[in-house]
Amino acid sequence: MPQIFTVLGARPQFIKAAPVSRAIAEAGMTEVIAHTGQHFDALMSDVFFEELAIPKPAYNLEINSLGHGAMTGRMLEKLEAAMLAEKPAMVLVYGDTNSTVAGALAASKLHIPVAHVEAGLRSFNRRMPEEINRVITDHVSALLFCPTQTAVRNLKNEGIVNGVHATGDVMFDTTIAAVARAKGRSTILDDLKLTPKQYSVATIHRAENTDDPARFARVVAWLEDAARSTPIVMPVHPRTRKLLSQSGVVPAGLTLIDPIGYLDMASLINQSAAVFTDSGGLQKEAYFHGVPCVTLRDETEWVETVEAGWNRLWTAPDYAPRRDIPDYGDGKASELIASLIRAALEA
Ligand code: UD1
Repeated sequence: MPQIFTVLGARPQFIKAAPVSRAIAEAGMTEVIAHTGQHFDALMSDVFFEELAIPKPAYNLEINSLGHGAMTGRMLEKLEAAMLAEKPAMVLVYGDTNSTVAGALAASKLHIPVAHVEAGLRSFNRRMPEEINRVITDHVSALLFCPTQTAVRNLKNEGIVNGVHATGDVMFDTTIAAVARAKGRSTILDDLKLTPKQYSVATIHRAENTDDPARFARVVAWLEDAARSTPIVMPVHPRTRKLLSQSGVVPAGLTLIDPIGYLDMASLINQSAAVFTDSGGLQKEAYFHGVPCVTLRDETEWVETVEAGWNRLWTAPDYAPRRDIPDYGDGKASELIASLIRAALEA
């Protein structure tokens, strides 16, 4: 049986892997998961494995809280050792984190073909660590699964055409499953005493927003201003929590809560009036739930959400006219990805 070696590490990867791991098993392939440990808190990691029924990692590398070089370097070393032991037929990586690029580099140096889920995204801002991780990962990948046609075009512009497939977005698959599962299980609205459509949801964690105190202050001021019309609930990422406690800032009109699980987040977004975020995934999830989004960044990789009027950059005065976005697929992107991997391994 063909064997897939999957590298996971950060919260968005657990969310993307859940439906793909299921589809890989259903397609009759075996999978070994390595968790780099990049995200390690129970609320940033364990809760997703439990709620989304992701198979237990065979390797837990426990590498976290280091600078980019040290973190990526140690992951590279440990992942290489694990890949040498497992001798997989293919290595599967997701998204754009340090765990993604470490997995892709380790595999490609061992001549193991790399499959990249969420290939081809570009912000065209090379000051973002995620952009460097995406570009490098795409250029060493043999199979590139693109969530959108824009992503396919971005790859073509960099000369990458072989092994490129427009599959739709696996996060849409996860969202559909989560909405069904959250019904009757998530009590978050009651717990926080929220009335449907009378509150907004915010998240901030990107280095581009948190590393510069002046920029961070502008983002907080923007949210405080928005909170004057509708109260805001903000699940706080550990990076942002540290910053808030160091600076002593207490944002007015914002209810700060600990990070929450996927089902609670799905319920929270589903009933919200608007989403304000610098996360990539949330921009799309807002659209999947039919909720407008403001992206607290100066550019976005998810340009379709902006063009279709569901999302706008915080610098833009208004939304474009609204329409649907067919690119993200029909909720079966994961099955297509599994069958494409299987076909590539059998070729
Ligand atoms: C990482 C990814 C980013 C992704 C985000 C999702 C990179 C370069 N960045 O950023 O693309 O959008 O994950 O959340 O890979 N921390 C904890 N507990 C945890 C996780 C992190 O306390 O469970 C702390 C770390 O110790 C560190 C800080 O949060 O001080 C940032 O963590 P890090 O993994 O460096 O990057 P993220 O900001 O999470």
